[in-house]
Amino acid sequence: MATANQAKVARDTEQAITVSTPSRREFLYYIWMASLVLLLGEAGAGILWFAYPRFKEGTFGGTFTLGPGEVPGAGEAPNSKPAGRFHISHLGDDSLIVLYGVCTHLGCLPSWVEANTRFECPCHGSKFELDGKYIEGPAPRSLDRFVTTVYFEDGTVETTNTEGDPIQLAGRSIARIDIDTGNRVRRTGAKAKL
Ligand code: FES
Repeated sequence: MATANQAKVARDTEQAITVSTPSRREFLYYIWMASLVLLLGEAGAGILWFAYPRFKEGTFGGTFTLGPGEVPGAGEAPNSKPAGRFHISHLGDDSLIVLYGVCTHLGCLPSWVEANTRFECPCHGSKFELDGKYIEGPAPRSLDRFVTTVYFEDGTVETTNTEGDPIQLAGRSIARIDIDTGNRVRRTGAKAKL
C-alpha cells in the first residue's frame, strides 16, 4: 500500500521537475525584443561602416608612395599628380613641400605656368608661388599642404611638422616619399598668406 509519505514524495518530485514555460504574450515579447536588438545592431554597424572612410593606397584620400625619380630637382617645375591632387615642389633651399592642388578660393585647380614660374588659378586668377605662398587674387590663403614623410637612403626619416613647413633635404638622397592625401595642413591665422 502506498503510504502517505510515498504520495507526498511523488507530488514533490512532480513539482520539482515542473518547468515554467513563457506565456504566448511573453514569447512574442522576447521575439520582438530580439528583433529590435538585431535591427539596432545592424543599423549601428552600417553607420560605423560608412562613417569611417577607407582609402586605398594610391587613391585620393590615401597615401601615395613615390620614388626619388618623381621628385623634381631644386628650383625646377613642380611634379603634378592629378590622381592625388597634389604638386611636389623642390624649393631653392633644397627643401621639399607637397601642395594640395585645389585653390583655396572656390576649389578650382591652379596649374603651374612655367613662363611665369607660379601657379595660376584658371577661375578667378589667384596666383601662388612654387611653395604655395599666396601672391595675389581672391584666394584667402596660400595653398594647403599634405603631410609627407621622406625616407632617406642614409636611414633617416623626416615628416611634415604641424605647421606644414617644408622638409629640409640637406643634400641627403631620397629613397622614397609617402604623401598622405588624407592629412592636410591648412594655412590659417598669421600664416594664412605665408
Ligand atoms: S577658385 Fe581659384 S581664384 Fe577662385
